[in-house]
Amino acid sequence: MLSINQYQEHFLLYLEKNKIEKEPKNLYQPIDYILQVGGKRIRPILTLMTAEIFDAEYSKALPAALAIEVFHNFSLIHDDIMDDAPLRRGKPTVHEKWNVNAGILSGDAMLILAYQYFEKYEPITFRKLAKLFSKTALEVCEGQQYDVDFETRVDVTIPEYLKMIEYKTAVLVAAAMKMGAIVAKTSKENAKLIYEFGLNLGLAFQLQDDYLDAFGDPIKFGKQVGGDIIENKKTYLYIKAIEFSSIEQKEELTKWFSTSSKENSIKIDAVKEIFNATGASLATQEAIKKYTLKAFKTLKKINISDDKKVILKEFGKNLMKRKV
Ligand code: IPE
Ligand code: IPE
Ligand code: MG
Ligand code: MG
Ligand code: MG
Repeated sequence: MLSINQYQEHFLLYLEKNKIEKEPKNLYQPIDYILQVGGKRIRPILTLMTAEIFDAEYSKALPAALAIEVFHNFSLIHDDIMDDAPLRRGKPTVHEKWNVNAGILSGDAMLILAYQYFEKYEPITFRKLAKLFSKTALEVCEGQQYDVDFETRVDVTIPEYLKMIEYKTAVLVAAAMKMGAIVAKTSKENAKLIYEFGLNLGLAFQLQDDYLDAFGDPIKFGKQVGGDIIENKKTYLYIKAIEFSSIEQKEELTKWFSTSSKENSIKIDAVKEIFNATGASLATQEAIKKYTLKAFKTLKKINISDDKKVILKEFGKNLMKRKV
């Protein structure tokens, strides 16, 4: 096994090798921009790591890792349009730097490119990867639609929220890992368990993303802090705040979440205050822990050596500590 940093370096080299410099520039430049502008590369690292955990060489998993990262970045371009987000990884979003049409079409092209990378695999593996990918990509669309639908609903429940984040975020983390397992041709049981591990890690990951969206350091986080509050997103923070609030707090929170102006620092401060005062912030941190521990529990059942389990556990622990 290599270190996380080494997997990342190998992935970045492969990304560079697959750089597209073609005409028309307004189609390919946004693709290059979003892919080069950074990011943690969590999903491709997981694909490479999982391949090695199941005894294949990481290099065999590079095309699948690239497919996952290109798909992820496609989803971010479209997500930023839908969320009206100005910043991504500390830089202007694609639709801000170019325009919405460029974001739509470059995103579409990336989805197709992602599929093409699977063509590097022989038919049996190709079929398995493509099948998992199609299912996952459709679920991401479903999750994204729920996320948008919830903006204008006031009665979103925790189970509904959990389903939404499972689809918009967790399934891709899970699929990233399962693809490593598929490439390594491990047992069905192992592939299923590693998917379950990734799914719970992905839930914790999105809960953390919601937390950082409100309470992250604007410089480190790289996205507009308070963006979810501006957009009236029904996050875990919000739903728990409503649950725990007094009549007055509930009234105030509901009032803020029925406004949609962009001039919002007063709204952001007031809402964060309620998130803290009601105990919603604490409950969110507990939920992050809960799903991370749930992931670790699944690890116990996987048929791999203990030192490999330690590596996966370390990865999960580091995710919990992240500020980006
Ligand atoms: C952002 O994902 C979208 C979510 C699912 C929360 P990441 O936090 O992995 O974004 P990058 O790729 O590291 O920028
Ligand atoms: C991300 O949800 C889900 C997808 C991009 C599919 P968010 O909207 O919370 O992601 P960020 O915070 O913009 O990265
Ligand atoms: Mg967003
Ligand atoms: Mg979104
Ligand atoms: Mg977010």
